[in-house]
Amino acid sequence: MAQYAKLAEMLEFPPDIAQPNVFPLGWQSHTAKMEEIWDAARREDWDPKKLPWATFKPETYSWEAREAIAYWWTILSVFDASAPPVFAAALIKTYEAHEEDPVRRCFFSVTRDEQNHEQTCGLAITRLLEHPDPLTYRPRTELGRKLQRNAKWLYYNGGRYWNGYKQAVPKYSLAVLFSSFLMGEIAAATIFHQMAAGCREPVFKEAFRNIGRDEGRHMAICLTLMERDYPKLHAEDAAVITKQIRAGYVFLSAVLSEPPADFWDLPKDFIAVQREAEAVARAAGFHIPDYEAKKQNWRNAMLNLKGVLDRYAIPFPAIPEIGISGQEVREVEMADIIPVF
Ligand SMILES: [Fe+2]
Ligand SMILES: [Fe+2]
Repeated sequence: MAQYAKLAEMLEFPPDIAQPNVFPLGWQSHTAKMEEIWDAARREDWDPKKLPWATFKPETYSWEAREAIAYWWTILSVFDASAPPVFAAALIKTYEAHEEDPVRRCFFSVTRDEQNHEQTCGLAITRLLEHPDPLTYRPRTELGRKLQRNAKWLYYNGGRYWNGYKQAVPKYSLAVLFSSFLMGEIAAATIFHQMAAGCREPVFKEAFRNIGRDEGRHMAICLTLMERDYPKLHAEDAAVITKQIRAGYVFLSAVLSEPPADFWDLPKDFIAVQREAEAVARAAGFHIPDYEAKKQNWRNAMLNLKGVLDRYAIPFPAIPEIGISGQEVREVEMADIIPVF
């Protein structure tokens, strides 16, 4: 057995532990709003397995429609299946940073919620395709074959940002991380409310309603933290946030609008194939907003976000794609992307 000097034999009290240390031993609480959001998360808890799946009869749809609807859930999964580990990493950071107790719990609730969203994607896809993953599934139709190729490219691109994210988490303050989280949450809350309103199938309607409500809470968490921290934000953090918003726009456009060429490495016919699938899904009663409606949504979400950042005098990036002028952000580098959904 190794010999080592016991500090307790030499010192009355132990030395300080080097920071950041993984956990605080204390339950400080200064932000009352955060406690309210946590209570709401407990109240609004739901179980994806208990959605009315029994009312859903995939066999009443054509295989083309099933593959088209499963494709939409697959796009969503590219974002939602990465969200549990993304928020789990952020949760660890709240402990390392010795965040207030209700803030730690709120990040735990987001991790929990995102796993529900991911599970819901899986339940929908498995029923639609009679197979538990869209990448090894054997397509039944020509459209299905083209969609699977799209799905493979989406997955490849989605996977590319993980290393960037892991490097970004320790590098940036929580205040910077919140801005990119907020971006995803605003976007998500918008789309799910629309999907819930327009969708014919009861099980999807209820799923979208629940997911949309969760995303609204996530948005409130980010806004509350921004209110707390942004009045004392450092100038260099503000500059990172501006770049971050541009990067988030590019990344999240794949689910909220159409993937821009900036970051997304995709085959030439990708968008045409996706549009074809959306038309099939829409005709089958699965409401996906059309291109113009998506663009309008995305613009509104960005203007909301701009409203928040303006309050703290953080420059907004130019997003000419949706007619928003602002500060030019030239390079969108992988290392700058911390998007979540
Ligand atoms: Fe989500
Ligand atoms: Fe979320």
